[in-house]
Amino acid sequence: MVKIAQYSDIVMDHFMNPRNVGEIENPDGVGEVGNPVCGDMMTFYIKVDDEDRIEDVKFKTFGCGAAIAVSSMVSEMAVGKTLDEAMSITRDQVAQQLGGLPKNKMHCSNLGADALQKAIEDYRSKKAATKE
Ligand code: FES
Repeated sequence: MVKIAQYSDIVMDHFMNPRNVGEIENPDGVGEVGNPVCGDMMTFYIKVDDEDRIEDVKFKTFGCGAAIAVSSMVSEMAVGKTLDEAMSITRDQVAQQLGGLPKNKMHCSNLGADALQKAIEDYRSKKAATKE
């Protein structure tokens, strides 16, 4: 019999009731990533306060259930963190917070961490440009 990998209750909860879905008006940073194999896309928007702490995160995800759950979890993990702390969020930490992901869905958690990092990089490069 074929064994079907199942999503954890936490994944199902974040998939069915994703947190922080949407877009931030005038975001401080935007990060967009896609996976050419599955075709899924993720865009993260961040707002950063004066102390370089992430005060708000929103996302738009076109993708599988795991990608939506991952986006939701990453957004919750990032809020309140400094940029350096948020930069070091790994796909394994995201998967762990979600109570685990099936092996063939680990790339979905990669996408979430990458999109957040890209948004932070975007913010940092814009900030560096205004200082010049
Ligand atoms: Fe590609 Fe989930 S199947 S992000």
